[in-house]
Amino acid sequence: MLVSVTLVFVALGKVVQCLSNYTFPPDFRFGVATASYQIEGAWNTDGKGESIWDRMTHQHPDFFFNGDVAADSYHLYKEDVRALKELGVGVYRFSISWPRILPTGDVDVVNKLGIAYYNNLINELLANGIEPMVTMYHWDLPQALQDIGGWPNQVIADYFEEYARVLFTHFGDRVKLWLTFNEPLSFCAGYGEWRAGAPGIDAHGIGDYMSAHTVLHAHARVYHLYDNVFRKKQKGQIGITLDSEWADPFDGTVESKEAAERELQFQLGWFAHPIFSSEGDYPRVMKERILNNSLKEGRTRSRKEVKYVQGTSDFFGLNHYTTNLARSGAVGETPSLIRDAGVQMILDPSWPSSASAWLKVVPWGFRKLLVWIAKEYNNPPVYVTENGFSDHGELRDTNRTKYITSYLSELLKAIHEDGCNVIGYTAWSLIDNYEWMSGYTEKFGMYYVNYSDPARPRVPKDSSRVMAEIIRTRQLPQ
Ligand code: NOJ
Repeated sequence: MLVSVTLVFVALGKVVQCLSNYTFPPDFRFGVATASYQIEGAWNTDGKGESIWDRMTHQHPDFFFNGDVAADSYHLYKEDVRALKELGVGVYRFSISWPRILPTGDVDVVNKLGIAYYNNLINELLANGIEPMVTMYHWDLPQALQDIGGWPNQVIADYFEEYARVLFTHFGDRVKLWLTFNEPLSFCAGYGEWRAGAPGIDAHGIGDYMSAHTVLHAHARVYHLYDNVFRKKQKGQIGITLDSEWADPFDGTVESKEAAERELQFQLGWFAHPIFSSEGDYPRVMKERILNNSLKEGRTRSRKEVKYVQGTSDFFGLNHYTTNLARSGAVGETPSLIRDAGVQMILDPSWPSSASAWLKVVPWGFRKLLVWIAKEYNNPPVYVTENGFSDHGELRDTNRTKYITSYLSELLKAIHEDGCNVIGYTAWSLIDNYEWMSGYTEKFGMYYVNYSDPARPRVPKDSSRVMAEIIRTRQLPQ
């Protein structure tokens, strides 16, 4: 019998990791991920329009950093592909900048040079045997669409559908893996409190919940568009990427168990339940606590709309990084959504840290979350679209290696021991990049980028070599 135990123990003063010795299934896909605003730079080059992140970082007094140049992937994409080739990945997940394609958000003006940039990138990937996985929206909304209200305005779904049509038309002959949205939980929060990111609007209980309505509808519109018009010819797959921490009960009480479940429903269920559950619509606990109270008027969804959104994803894209302990009763500083859930989130001080305050290393939480998703949504194919560790940019990045290998070890156990249908993994991230509200202080790359050098050279870190070996051998180092 194959028994896989992950133990971290101290031997002769050295931390030794025992990792699962299961192998990755033959069709399991490996990759790495990035996003346009975080790496491309060239913020106003070749006809690109202004995005909400350009506007916020340029105008808000609290920002002294931005993605104007970032890792300059707009000019250095061949360097990125060289690094991908060195890693040996089969898939590269990147996002397309909406305002680079449609500077005003509207199809009236299609920026040919923007189309050319992504054509070049896609062709370079394919020439190197790497499959593109494209995120249509990784948070850089055209500012012109924010000027008419942004995501709380349901008309934005019309614009998103037309933008998607442009993408399918120009790139769908070669792109076979699509994601509509990256982490709606995160970017809808930008309409709930300013600290959550662009556009930085403090309207919790209104802006964020309204945005979620539009985003779910826009996602379904694009899924149906692909299904009705493009799928037959292009033969690709389309999904959405949702994010969630694992919430473990703080103690053995019923209250803590219920709080942990509520947290999962408010984080993941908010977007997953309408798309992946057999019931459809928002999770019952959310409707009871929120939608029937603060958002009564016009915010609940018709039966027709529930059906329209249900089942609109070919796979379950999951971003997961960390875990917290949940107990009942939210307090002051916790994010407002979680305040609505009535949950207090606690970090165990014994968990290893990263450079990001929110990111603790808790590999077992990953497995529990995968099992929860399998149970809750009838074991859908899960594509892990992000998972990674932040430090300050060390080349000898032992902690990143430990993080990635220990999380992959739990993923293997979820597949082999729990029967979870996990089909792929794209690590965050290929290169050090712009980390939103934290600027360049937290680095997630497997390749170091020297931000004081205008040439932005990419230098492999130790973790990139370990990742390459995992991909080559299709198992973890023993
Ligand atoms: C998730 C986001 O998709 C990505 O943009 C971000 O850099 C990572 N989390 C790390 O915070």
